[in-house]
Amino acid sequence: MCGIIGYLGDRNGAEVVVEGLKALEYRGYDSWGVAVRSNASVSIKKQVGRISDFDDLSSLPFANIAIGHTRWATHGSATAANAHPHTCCKGRIAVVHNGIIENYQELKSSLVAKGHIFKSQTDTEVIAHLIEENVAFGYDFNTAFEKAISDLKGRFAVVAIVDSDDQLLIARKGSPLVLGMGDKEFFVASDVPAFLKYTNNVVFLEDGDVASVGSARSLRPGVTITNRGKVVTRSPKRVSWDVEGAELGEYDHFMIKEIMEQKDTILRAINQPKEDIKRISDMINLSDNVFFIGCGTAGKVAQVGSYLFSKIAGKRVDFVVGSEFPNYHDFLGSNTLLVSISQSGETADTLEAMEVAQKAGAKLVSIVNVVGSSMMRMSDYSLLCNSGPEKAVCSTKATTAQIAILAELAFACAGRLDQGLNLLESVASQVSSMLDDGISDKVRSLAKKLAGHESMYIIGRSVNFPIALEASIKMQEVPYIHAEGFAGGELKHGPIALIEPGTPCVAFVANDDVKSDMISNAMEIRSRGAFIIGIAPENDAVFDFWIQVPDAGVLSPIPNIIPIQLLSYYTALEKSCDPDKPRNLAKSVTVK
Ligand code: G6P
Repeated sequence: MCGIIGYLGDRNGAEVVVEGLKALEYRGYDSWGVAVRSNASVSIKKQVGRISDFDDLSSLPFANIAIGHTRWATHGSATAANAHPHTCCKGRIAVVHNGIIENYQELKSSLVAKGHIFKSQTDTEVIAHLIEENVAFGYDFNTAFEKAISDLKGRFAVVAIVDSDDQLLIARKGSPLVLGMGDKEFFVASDVPAFLKYTNNVVFLEDGDVASVGSARSLRPGVTITNRGKVVTRSPKRVSWDVEGAELGEYDHFMIKEIMEQKDTILRAINQPKEDIKRISDMINLSDNVFFIGCGTAGKVAQVGSYLFSKIAGKRVDFVVGSEFPNYHDFLGSNTLLVSISQSGETADTLEAMEVAQKAGAKLVSIVNVVGSSMMRMSDYSLLCNSGPEKAVCSTKATTAQIAILAELAFACAGRLDQGLNLLESVASQVSSMLDDGISDKVRSLAKKLAGHESMYIIGRSVNFPIALEASIKMQEVPYIHAEGFAGGELKHGPIALIEPGTPCVAFVANDDVKSDMISNAMEIRSRGAFIIGIAPENDAVFDFWIQVPDAGVLSPIPNIIPIQLLSYYTALEKSCDPDKPRNLAKSVTVK
């Protein structure tokens, strides 16, 4: 959670940083802050609310060095005092941080005993005071920073500045941080879109890296990276994302832009190097036990994947939610394969699960969208979704890309890769036509109806059971409707008691072996008064409202989720909710 950025160069640092924070706002939007260094002093501006609402730079001086932060509150509520950057007692050192300092209470008590005065309830503030304490002891800024970092336990990405020096000091352990290498200017940020306008030449920092970025005037000009005290070389890479991909363009919101991009992204997802697909499918076939994991929407994709493997390849794969995976510790060994699914590649619970599996000797594969992410670097092999930046907090285009990749792997495991690719290509083109064909108008009319309802229920069976669960996440997180997803057979074991005349219920009815059971389940709830919304290739008498989707056979989860993505978007608009930045959520959940 939280987005951080730093700049050093000839431009107006405040402007670059504010603009970068706007691009990172999807990572947290409770409050924000900027610190700039000019004329050997540090000036700070912090505010509760969203950086996107701010455009008055006149309150910050022109400065060549600046850092900024957009926050998703963990330690301490969303107040200006708790917003980053945090400073030391004298206000000379300013720090921004993403992650959690686990031993901050202990560090804080010892600093307070030494006379440090804290102004916030955050864990981050200890970093500024620790550096200050080390400087007071006689260390130069760089050494004081390194020593402070070595005292921290937890996950963190930190950028610090001091009034007396022309440098950005940077540390990474467990939270993402990437350097942008411009022409005589440098950027550092949680994610590439923050500085993509200026450079796509990037260096992904590794865990344990401490970097100093200095101008020609500073004591240590250029970029120096050390890891455990030794200077290391990290080669720059070109990121293929373009600025347009990270901007709204003709759309009102990123969510609708990203839903519409599914016209192309499914095809891009399945365009994987054949040797990678072959290698990973062999690993799956040869492993004694295979787990698919993920959190939130990616967790539902993992669950879809386990059904796809059973249906397409006859291969048993266990699905486990990322945060629950450590409980499976006793079942892991050198012949276990863990496949992690994640848009960001940074979700803390999924990363921790990977650490548990790695310690037990398991092999790691990840399916991620963000190039250079922690999961990608930790895995033995990775497949990239190639969806381009996904900026709306809820996942849409990365979801269908991940399902498509899992299906591709399942076909490869079954020795039918070419057939699978043909099917996936035809589903990609069906989705493209569906998004072109005005499905939005029909969904929009349904959104008007749903906006007045507090609760809804969603059912699916087989491959579409996890899609019912994912659909409920969408209706919860975007238009704040109390939505619950169930396996078709389960509704009558309790939740049916909640059905009242007019209660909206979505039924996913694919043309598959569970179709007649799904129709029976829809009938059971309709006869109790439910208003049945059928998402199906064919209409049925049980549906009060029918949304037609293409018949995609076993791949039906891909087209089926799209009307729900649109429904959650348009219902949010009906209710005047912000679809890109739902309340209380963040795009990248880097805390446990
Ligand atoms: C957050 C986001 C979800 C996402 C989940 C997992 O909760 O709001 O949209 O599905 O994290 O994120 P990941 O980056 O691992 O896919």
